[in-house]
Amino acid sequence: MTSSGTRILRWLAAPSLFIAGCACLSLSSCSTVERTVSAPPQVEGATFVGNQACADCHTNYTRTFAASAHGRFHSDSPRLAGQTGCESCHGPGSKHVQTGGQGRDKFIVNPRKSPDTCFACHVQTHAEFRLPHHHQVLEGKLHCGQCHDAHGFDIHKPKGGLALSRLNETCANCHREQSKAHVFGHEALREGCVACHTPHGSFTQKLLHQRDVNLCIKCHAQTQTTAGDIVFGNTSHGAFIRRGTCWSAGCHTAVHGSNIDPKLRY
Ligand code: HEC
Ligand code: HEC
Ligand code: HEC
Ligand code: HEC
Ligand code: HEC
Ligand code: HEC
Ligand code: HEC
Repeated sequence: MTSSGTRILRWLAAPSLFIAGCACLSLSSCSTVERTVSAPPQVEGATFVGNQACADCHTNYTRTFAASAHGRFHSDSPRLAGQTGCESCHGPGSKHVQTGGQGRDKFIVNPRKSPDTCFACHVQTHAEFRLPHHHQVLEGKLHCGQCHDAHGFDIHKPKGGLALSRLNETCANCHREQSKAHVFGHEALREGCVACHTPHGSFTQKLLHQRDVNLCIKCHAQTQTTAGDIVFGNTSHGAFIRRGTCWSAGCHTAVHGSNIDPKLRY
């Protein structure tokens, strides 16, 4: 069984804990991502009605949901109402249904307006957005849906995006300059923008994984010749590296690709 399969089973194996009414319980799992099971979003006076109740009016979502990352661990068990279905992100829907879909902002939660509903389970992600450098999701300038299609088959692309080119497509929607094709492209981009950047947040400027030579040497093998020198390709780099990062002025400033220089200098 895959590790994610195991994770889901463990997750589903915990319903008795929901019933115990725990507000915020951390489950350890085989992944490094910590998941927390907690209370779903609240809507005053409303109760859970289950996914079937949404199907009448939102077939476009209920149809695709089963194949989505969150739909795959959905259970119709009433004991799990609100924990695995539409209402785990949108809150209890009875009032919204009774009023025929009225009460935007009042009877139904839209995570586009607040990511809190996601953070109830994705504690680790919440922490990432609080790091010093981050995409401004908590500030309300971006929302999770611009990078994640919550209802679709592939959650790692924005809604309506092309699944096959998802690698850099998500980022390209907003960062054309770094994503466009270059005469001398940097092959690093074939592994995606996330080869060098964290998507949510980081301690380092420009959302980089590292802000020194380590960012580059994870792919560029170095040969150590004489003590204190480092060679990349056929060029001695020992003296360069002491001057600053690999992408400092005069070196490889065009990390995203260059139209004039194959060594990505400008
Ligand atoms: C009787 C029809 C009906 C049912 C049943 C229904 N909805 Fe809706 N829903 C609507 C209508 C109508 C709108 C408003 C569309 C608009 O204003 O553009 C809406 C809007 C929404 C929105 C957007 C709210 C916003 O603030 O932008 C969400 C989320 C939503 N529904 C979720 C659900 C969920 C989850 C269920 C099942 C628990 C459900 N709906 C059941 C008719 C329904
Ligand atoms: C993992 C969380 C999650 C689950 C589960 C979920 N949704 Fe959503 N839903 C979102 C997010 C995020 C948005 C807003 C961004 C977007 O449209 O992608 C949204 C928006 C909506 C909207 C409003 C669309 C609009 O144009 O404003 C409707 C309607 C909706 N969801 C219905 C459903 C139904 C029905 C289900 C169950 C079959 C469901 N959702 C399950 C996260 C979720
Ligand atoms: C009720 C708990 C819960 C809520 C609420 C929830 N998630 Fe999740 N989410 C999970 C679980 C559990 C998984 C793991 C599924 C798996 O491992 O395949 C998951 C998986 C994901 C993944 C894929 C992770 C991967 O490893 O590929 C993304 C992205 C994600 N969620 C985003 C969101 C967003 C965005 C929201 C809010 C709109 C949200 N989630 C709300 C429980 C939740
Ligand atoms: C700027 C785009 C972007 C935004 C906004 C964004 N994500 Fe992500 N998210 C990504 C990318 C890209 C990955 C895949 C990271 C990887 O493969 O290394 C990811 C991965 C994840 C994962 C899987 C675990 C992990 O960290 O790798 C979860 C869960 C998740 N995101 C939840 C969320 C939630 C919840 C929100 C909103 C609060 C959100 N994301 C907003 C781009 C984004
Ligand atoms: C919905 C639009 C949007 C998407 C999608 C998006 N970003 Fe951003 N990104 C922004 C905004 C807005 C800023 C802040 C710009 C600023 O502060 O000048 C930003 C900032 C950044 C920065 C830091 C710039 C700086 O000067 O500090 C990096 C790096 C970055 N994004 C990388 C990515 C990557 C990688 C992806 C894909 C996983 C991505 N972005 C997806 C909108 C987006
Ligand atoms: C090989 C590593 C690497 C890859 C892959 C990469 N970047 Fe960068 N990116 C950097 C570095 C290094 C900087 C910092 C440049 C600086 O500080 O002057 C940067 C800076 C940025 C910035 C801030 C604006 C700027 O140019 O300083 C944005 C936005 C950005 N990258 C987006 C992206 C996007 C989108 C992708 C994928 C298409 C991507 N990056 C892929 C290394 C990379
Ligand atoms: C994800 C892997 C990866 C990362 C990270 C990466 N590169 Fe690359 N880079 C490549 C590949 C693959 C090539 C093409 C094969 C080669 O020339 O080694 C390349 C080529 C280059 C070239 C052109 C070399 C030539 O002789 O034509 C330069 C310059 C370069 N990278 C600089 C950098 C710098 C600077 C960084 C750190 C900001 C970096 N790379 C990070 C994978 C990566």
